[in-house]
Amino acid sequence: MADDAHDPGRALVALVTGATGGIGTALCAELAAHGYTVVAADLDGGRPPGARHAVTLDLRSGESCRAAVEETTERCGRLDLLVNNAGINARGRTEHMPEDVWGGVVDVNLNGTFRMSQAAYPAMAQRGGSIVNLASTGGLVAIGGSAVYGVTKAAIVHLTKVLAVEWAAVDIRVNAVAPTIVPSPMTADVLDDAEYMAAKMATIPLGRVVAPHEVAAAVRWLASTDAAMVTGHTIAVDGGVSVL
Ligand SMILES: NC(=O)c1ccc[n+]([C@@H]2O[C@H](COP(=O)([O-])OP(=O)(O)OC[C@H]3O[C@@H](n4cnc5c(N)ncnc54)[C@H](O)[C@@H]3O)[C@@H](O)[C@H]2O)c1
Repeated sequence: MADDAHDPGRALVALVTGATGGIGTALCAELAAHGYTVVAADLDGGRPPGARHAVTLDLRSGESCRAAVEETTERCGRLDLLVNNAGINARGRTEHMPEDVWGGVVDVNLNGTFRMSQAAYPAMAQRGGSIVNLASTGGLVAIGGSAVYGVTKAAIVHLTKVLAVEWAAVDIRVNAVAPTIVPSPMTADVLDDAEYMAAKMATIPLGRVVAPHEVAAAVRWLASTDAAMVTGHTIAVDGGVSVL
């Protein structure tokens, strides 16, 4: 049974976006293993292991975000944790970046995080809750060829702080995790690029990639009552990259 300071004895309900991706799949398993009733939300409506329910979600639509929250509360009666995990990347130097590609990444990563958080607010404000956003090392340090991705993740770090301040009054904590490279469909292309990976590893003091379950564990801790006084914070899960 998940630990519920607000309503002891009831399993907490977590809604995970990008649930069928690499980190999303690990999040569903981790949260389910710690007693959450997990609702998986993704474009394909897939239900990874651990998830009790699946909803189809397109973050580019506010209506779709509100429907995902509605379906969650209809099926599970409540919403305690929102993990804004879904995201996309577009690599390329800024002088060659097409404006529509830039806008597309902003729309999913930043605007999608805004839309889902806003959609979740009414359900969460009833008894308090927790939001954990997926930022990235790319939002903490400048990585060439990663402008739009990094800008959206830096904005998510700031949005995390502002929402923490705005929503503290209704006992909603808002935090983020910022991993360095994690093996997943998003990174499959660069993981096969030996030259890229050698250069990348040289920037990571602990000298390895992050396992998806290590990201999920940080999210789970931030959502837990052990972190009851932690809000507005971004935890770097990056082997030391961002302290260099
Ligand atoms: N993999 C990494 O190295 C890494 C590092 C730091 C941060 N992150 C962040 O972690 C999160 C998860 O990344 P991942 O590596 O699991 O990527 P992934 O590509 O495996 O999964 C992302 C998921 O988001 C979903 N998605 C994309 N657009 C969507 C939309 N419009 N509406 C709903 N869902 C949508 C995709 O269908 C996919 O299942 C992302 O926010 C990413 O930026 C990843």
